[in-house]
Amino acid sequence: MDLSTTIAGIRFPSCFMNASGALCVTKEELIALGRSRAGAIVTKSMTVEARQGNPAPRYYGFPGGSINSMGLPNLGYKAYAELIPELKRLGKPVIASVAGLCEDDFPVIAQAINEAQPDLIEVNLSCPNIPGKPQIGYDAEASERLMKRVRKVITVPMGVKLPPYFDPAHHKLMGDVIGRCGVDFLNLINSVGNGLVVDPETETVVIKPKGGFGGLGGTIIKPVALANVRAFWKHFEGRMPIIGTGGVMNGVDAFEHLLCGASAVQIGTALVEEGVGVFDRLEQELAACLEKRGYRSVSECRGKLREL
Ligand code: SIN
Repeated sequence: MDLSTTIAGIRFPSCFMNASGALCVTKEELIALGRSRAGAIVTKSMTVEARQGNPAPRYYGFPGGSINSMGLPNLGYKAYAELIPELKRLGKPVIASVAGLCEDDFPVIAQAINEAQPDLIEVNLSCPNIPGKPQIGYDAEASERLMKRVRKVITVPMGVKLPPYFDPAHHKLMGDVIGRCGVDFLNLINSVGNGLVVDPETETVVIKPKGGFGGLGGTIIKPVALANVRAFWKHFEGRMPIIGTGGVMNGVDAFEHLLCGASAVQIGTALVEEGVGVFDRLEQELAACLEKRGYRSVSECRGKLREL
């Protein structure tokens, strides 16, 4: 079974990879991803300065999902720029995830990280967890300005990681914006922010930052992720490569993302809960699912969702 995939001309040995944020902050974690069955190494979203992130507890898993408010803990872009050549030697594509605490941070980081030549750059417009800083992806004008600025300094394939949109009008608005910005691929979706999980026993919230508010992940967000993958797949008539992220806990979940139009899938909650061994399991489950349904490769089923 061929589980490899190609995004913006870059070949990935497997369509599964980590979502930025899941076990990818430190050098050790990134090397472990490189040595695992993951099809790529995706860095934590980086900021100008190193960050400790938000106070703990800041991740909570529950049956059906997770909530997090990590607050972009990362080593700072200079450390990731230094690490990239070593990570590339592990023999799979490296995706550098670029964030920022203000609009002007993004081009600074993008330019420096581009010089380190990761295989692709993913620009994160959708972190829901920085107190007082709304998700850029919900501001179409700011998103367009920012994407155009970073595009000027990025020479490798450039993608954007978007927040979930809940209305076709917003899929169209953002699709049109993206179409004007020279974007090479999309990553859909970031965690669904902001949710609130309550523990009725203790009568408390379950994470500390922002009064318990945070980004939701896992099974509960899969329909939202699938809707976004499908909507943008249709908007771009199948010509924009999409990484589907959200609710992939098993091989069938991944198959659903592929049917909706994803070329690859990223794993967040399941990776945090299970560790890098999750990639072996997911590969086996997806291969069995595709074989049972008569598909020989990931590309054969991409976008093939039938409507009634
Ligand atoms: C975080 O670090 O808070 C999560 C990052 C993200 O959702 O983009």
